[in-house]
Amino acid sequence: MTPAKLLNLGVLIYGCGHHQAAWMMPESSIELIGNVTYYQELARIAESGFLDAVFFADNQSFPATTSTEIPAFWFDPMINLTAISQVTNRIGLVSTISSTFSNPFTASRQLLSLDHISKGRVGWNLVTSMSDWEAENHGMDHLPSRERRYQKADEFAEVMDKLLLSWNRGDFSPNRSANHLINEQNIEPIDHVGTYFKVKGPSTTPSSPQGKPVAMQAGASDQGIELAAKYADAVYSVSWNLKQAMEYRNRLEQHLVKQNKPIRHVKIFPGLVTYIGRTKEEAYSKKLELDKRLPLENAIKQLSYFIGEDCSKWELDERVPSLPPIDSFTGPVGRYKTILEIVHDKEPTLRELLGYISAGGGHLTLIGTPEEIVDEMERWFNLGVADGFNLMPPTLPSGLKDFVELIIPELQKRGIFRKGYEGATLREHLDLVPPGSRDRSPQRGNYEEE
Ligand SMILES: Cc1cc2nc3c(=O)[nH]c(=O)nc-3n(C[C@H](O)[C@H](O)[C@H](O)COP(=O)(O)O)c2cc1C
Repeated sequence: MTPAKLLNLGVLIYGCGHHQAAWMMPESSIELIGNVTYYQELARIAESGFLDAVFFADNQSFPATTSTEIPAFWFDPMINLTAISQVTNRIGLVSTISSTFSNPFTASRQLLSLDHISKGRVGWNLVTSMSDWEAENHGMDHLPSRERRYQKADEFAEVMDKLLLSWNRGDFSPNRSANHLINEQNIEPIDHVGTYFKVKGPSTTPSSPQGKPVAMQAGASDQGIELAAKYADAVYSVSWNLKQAMEYRNRLEQHLVKQNKPIRHVKIFPGLVTYIGRTKEEAYSKKLELDKRLPLENAIKQLSYFIGEDCSKWELDERVPSLPPIDSFTGPVGRYKTILEIVHDKEPTLRELLGYISAGGGHLTLIGTPEEIVDEMERWFNLGVADGFNLMPPTLPSGLKDFVELIIPELQKRGIFRKGYEGATLREHLDLVPPGSRDRSPQRGNYEEE
């Protein structure tokens, strides 16, 4: 096999952008976030830069407790992506799906439907969700423990795999003269009976034009990575720095080895926040304009949630106190680890810490000219710690437009990004082996420090 030479890029569409102050900017798109044409336009911009996919995160609650909460999950992601599929031709369409709250029969049916509608452009990102607010909307008093969520996620992924492949498109073969419509002998129940799900099957819908929708996973605990090693084609990860990215790749590799199957390559797409300028000064001034407008009350509330501790009484301009070690933390570990890393690297004041996490919550953040930004992206790519990135523009649409106009040409110049779509399906864009095949895709780099 020839080594993969191109990196992959998705864009995570979120409200007016990932910086919490994005909506406050004079030219922001805030009035449009309940308008489907806004999302369609964003997807068209991404497609004009030949991106692999548009991606939606999800949160199934809206605990509006301050006047600056953004209803960023206004639309259900699958419905939004269906609308987007109608105005785009090539770009992939990835929806986050929670195994804690979803029913695998409905979820797989929706994915297959959209995959047929979009001619094979669908992916899904399996998460186990994060908040009691969401649980309370789904007949639960609180979010189940991580242990139980991941047990359920494992069974969910298993049932999804069965349903997504429960019968072949080729078994629908209408022939009027022979009075024949389907090969019914090939369309059998899946008869799944487990701890969390009982599903007879098969699906109403045949398997997808790309074999199977692309499976992604997000969640950085050991249980999350184990799940990815078992089922995912790719992961959406969070890495603040190269050290974290290397650690993550190594952990994933270890879990892949533990699978006791021929080793396969799971693609890693860390989130990436970029402030792009024609000069370094211009890039920093874009960040400053946003930071100046940060709604502090919300940012403090979010930080308190991420670290499981009330920080509303902390002094804004004093150093953040030391935080408990990871082992004693019971919430989502991924983000907490990152916050520990930022606090360790930068010894920030509360205000500075809020600035770092206000756009993307501790994902890799690159500020500078296209050359400087692409240098770092290329470094991660060549080291094998990133197969691409999930873009998290601080502002939308302007941050995405900057990326398409300034970064894409630089990536193309260096020969590491496509100049046009070659394939039609998301699986082809990502150069993934078809389902069933266990070949290991090529691996670059050795995940070691240079
Ligand atoms: C990069 C990243 C993105 C995530 N996106 C979502 C999301 O959109 N919706 C959601 O409910 N959970 C999301 N999660 C969290 C997952 O729900 C995860 O299963 C849960 O919080 C447990 O996380 P842990 O494995 O990191 O402890 C995300 C996690 C990471 C690391």
